Amino acid sequence: MEKKKPILILAIETSCEETSAAVICGCHSESNKLKSYNLQPVVLSNIVSSQVDLHTITGGIVPEVASRAHMEAIVPVIEEALTDAKVCFSDITHIAVTSGPGLIGSLLVGFNAAKSIAYARDLPIIPINHIEGHIYSALCAEPFTNLQIERKYKSTKNDEANSFPALALTVSGGHTALTMIFDHGKYETMGQTRDDAAGEAFDKVAQLLGLGFPGGPAISKLAEQFRNRSSKLQDTSNKQIINSKFQKSESKNLTSYKLQPNKLVFPRPMINERNFDFSFSGLKTAVLTEVKKRGELSAVDKEEIASAFEDAAVDLLVTKTIKAVKEYKPKAVLLAGGVAANRFLRNRLTEELKNLKTDKRIELKIAPLNLCGDNAAMIGLAAYYHIERGDVKHWDEIKVDSNFTL
Ligand code: KG4
Ligand code: ZN
Repeated sequence: MEKKKPILILAIETSCEETSAAVICGCHSESNKLKSYNLQPVVLSNIVSSQVDLHTITGGIVPEVASRAHMEAIVPVIEEALTDAKVCFSDITHIAVTSGPGLIGSLLVGFNAAKSIAYARDLPIIPINHIEGHIYSALCAEPFTNLQIERKYKSTKNDEANSFPALALTVSGGHTALTMIFDHGKYETMGQTRDDAAGEAFDKVAQLLGLGFPGGPAISKLAEQFRNRSSKLQDTSNKQIINSKFQKSESKNLTSYKLQPNKLVFPRPMINERNFDFSFSGLKTAVLTEVKKRGELSAVDKEEIASAFEDAAVDLLVTKTIKAVKEYKPKAVLLAGGVAANRFLRNRLTEELKNLKTDKRIELKIAPLNLCGDNAAMIGLAAYYHIERGDVKHWDEIKVDSNFTL
């Protein structure tokens, strides 16, 4: 019988604007022959301290401000993660840390904290690529069945290996990529953005519309309001319903706002090109041109532009993903990263995969909402599989790399 040793990982993530620490528990197999792991890692705690309030003041991230805020938060966040998991430093068996990509001044704070702990307690350390972390937030999620039910953490049988080969769409403020995962640790990037990341485009468009930072949730909210109202209006004209209460409020919208669903259509750069790369800068420029053309924006102008932008951005992401699914025939599709919190994107990808005619069912795994944004739990989950294959390092042999590629 092969032996299993408990492992307890303290994971740290500070690549951008979230200071995060998590404790992950798992069992480590001592048999190298073991191909499929049969126990899942469990997230015992996941503390995220966001700097969003600081960056709202400047309308974006100022790297110097971000690293100073990480310095202030890192120790209390680590302490809270241990307390929340009901463990102490002496219980920890491994340290995991994001070593790139990201803002160098931010990365260094978490990286040096992790290295110091590994040195002081003589623990093995696992440097993790931030994008790999995002991938594991979806890979470790259950197959997606119901958009309303967000699972928390799991603890039962592990079937991650059954998802391979998998295709991951990682969409965040700094990255947009389509990656094939052939096995734990075996990645190939099939396409990525040639200019802005998807989240960056959401943030910049939000700035143009005066919606503050971060822009994704604000754009998404306005777009949803526009679609809801448009569909109500369409519904009313189709069915010729005469409802005095409705007419009073909504007919006013109809005349004063002149809502015409889908009339405003932004370009979808590179959507028909025979590759899996993305481009968002042309879309952003098209929004800027529209904003300038309209002059002072009314609330409904903003909703309409937000909705047309979200349509285009999500269309780009989903079309390229489906194209890659047809080409590479993965068993599972993973959706992760900050932009994966976008409801319209989650719904459209779910629908398109459902409608796809394939020989075998394709599983869709979407990161749970609480693990879409940057967090240390995803870093610890990825580290668990490095430990399983013996890929651990000593504190003096690891390096931080702000351009770390998968
Ligand atoms: O993964 P993440 O937390 O940080 C990076 O690694 O960059 O992603 C942050 C990005 C931001 O650009 C934010 O605007 C975007 O994710 N985001 C969203 C939504 N929530 C966050 N974008 C679209 N819709 C959302 N609901
Ligand atoms: Zn991220």
